[in-house]
Amino acid sequence: MNDRLPRHIAFIMDGNGRWALKKGLKRSIGHRYGVKALKRIFEYVFELGINYMSIYALSKENLKRPKEEIQTLIELLNEYIDDCLPQLIKNKIRLNIMGDISILDDSSQQKIKMALEDTKHYSDKALNIAFNYSGRDEIIKAANQAIKDGHGEINQEIFEKYLYTASIPDPDLIIRTSGEQRISNFMLYQSAYSEIYFTKTLWPDFTKKTLDAALDDYKKRHRKFGDIK
Ligand code: IPE
Ligand code: IPE
Ligand code: MG
Repeated sequence: MNDRLPRHIAFIMDGNGRWALKKGLKRSIGHRYGVKALKRIFEYVFELGINYMSIYALSKENLKRPKEEIQTLIELLNEYIDDCLPQLIKNKIRLNIMGDISILDDSSQQKIKMALEDTKHYSDKALNIAFNYSGRDEIIKAANQAIKDGHGEINQEIFEKYLYTASIPDPDLIIRTSGEQRISNFMLYQSAYSEIYFTKTLWPDFTKKTLDAALDDYKKRHRKFGDIK
């Protein structure tokens, strides 16, 4: 029995589109309600004393979607950063971004850089946002950078410093909503020993109660990391 909370919890926030379509609404409305769910959960996670939270907001593969939907997701990221920055500062939470944000316009990139700068000295807690992210690309990018830096042979400790999550512990628990049971290129390296929880709840319907259920389930898991104990 593991009665501890995860130190790092990650969310694959899936099902916004289906949530909207079920209600006869446009997919973009689903994404807006998805951000509402995110705001509730962000507050609750840190209130509970979980110090690291990751969210999958856009995969690199999502760029295959219609331009209009990508534009909505970019706008929502912008609004969300504006919205949560005061909370990050108030609660001493560092912002971390995983992925290629060069798809954003200059002013959004600048805004993100400033938010990163404003929160970079907070070392005990982090909100980690994956945007235009690919787990495979992250690994390849890290390997290329290690080569460029002149490393002949590397080990896990050196390699991990090149990942977006350098200085963030691996996720203990990954929650995916909407009933899909796959990883979809999320944190491939970091999830080696993560516990994974799937729920049929669509992300906009995700509440504190849904999280409590996931945490109760997590507490019952026996993490062995390859050992027999
Ligand atoms: C998750 O919801 C959000 C993103 C992938 C950006 P989806 O948009 O994938 O919702 P479904 O899976 O189509 O319902
Ligand atoms: C994964 O969800 C990406 C995000 C939640 C941002 P998708 O909806 O894109 O994943 P697939 O296509 O169903 O695997
Ligand atoms: Mg989906």
